[in-house]
Amino acid sequence: MDARGGIGGSLKGIDLLAEINRLRKERNAVILAHYYQKPEIQDLADFVGDSLELSRKAAETDADVIAFCGVRFMAEVAKILSPEKTVILPDMDAGCSLEDSCPPAQFKAFREAHPDHIALSYINCSAQVKALSDIIVTSSSAEQIISQLPADQKIIFGPDKHLGGYISRKLGRDMLLWPGVCIVHESFSETELLKLKAQYPGAPVAAHPECPPAIIDHADYVGSTSGILNFAKAMPGDTLIVATEPHIIHQMEKAVPEKTFVGAPGADGNCNCNVCPYMALNTLEKLYISLRDLGPRIEMDEALRVAAKKPLDRMLEMASGTVGKGDVGAR
Ligand code: 13P
Ligand code: SF4
Repeated sequence: MDARGGIGGSLKGIDLLAEINRLRKERNAVILAHYYQKPEIQDLADFVGDSLELSRKAAETDADVIAFCGVRFMAEVAKILSPEKTVILPDMDAGCSLEDSCPPAQFKAFREAHPDHIALSYINCSAQVKALSDIIVTSSSAEQIISQLPADQKIIFGPDKHLGGYISRKLGRDMLLWPGVCIVHESFSETELLKLKAQYPGAPVAAHPECPPAIIDHADYVGSTSGILNFAKAMPGDTLIVATEPHIIHQMEKAVPEKTFVGAPGADGNCNCNVCPYMALNTLEKLYISLRDLGPRIEMDEALRVAAKKPLDRMLEMASGTVGKGDVGAR
């Protein structure tokens, strides 16, 4: 997989953890990881969080290098907010189906067809789409941000139609939705979820708002990854059905080991289709190589970065105080 002989070859016999720890010090690197990363990556990260928390960390850090264990749009956000830092992503192919669903040229045409609307974009999009947007939102900040906009303000929301639809229903606010979906959350099956609810009577369901309405309708709690984690800690019962990418269960089991967390199944009841294939591309081996070689590296045209930063800054201003408050128990 790389010029120096690949994971199965030259890395044999290397103590990856020790090497990563040596390199992170040598490089003055901070390792940021999303909750959907493999447990071994979450466990060595300096910080594990949701998209909004990770954006804030990337903006604040005084490290020279940000090793971003997540997907490419997240690492791009780190570069947009901290351009003087070297931002590395263990696997540059770690994309996102939502980003893929929203090609910038088509989004631009959509915007131009609705000149009286402002464009709110979910952070799961390319830097080009961010640059075409007025405000960026994450799943933990979208509701608060939209609530601050005048009631008569017309809104385009992209690229996730399920997150947009959920907020639109919850706030009773019409929005023009871009028809994108997350392939991971789209794969949850209502039939299988109902079977699981019958198997664990009384267990609440926590769902990410990227899930389709058929799943959301059965949820007792809907929120971002950090919101779901907070719900898992605070809920009174001892069993939770989790309708989001299952790697977040690692943090739940660490925080409240006495509780039981059951991942909601995909369509055949038993598939791995709710594991994010993009997040799964990052491995300890690739993290080691990226710290060693300071690459793959996020590079960005300065004009694009400046344009994409504007709506991200608006998000950070409008969402101040969002995480850690108010996200638990809402539906
Ligand atoms: P969060 O902001 O809730 O962590 O969501 C990120 C994501 O990609 C969910 O699929
Ligand atoms: Fe994108 Fe879905 Fe993976 Fe999140 S889980 S990174 S939205 S493909």
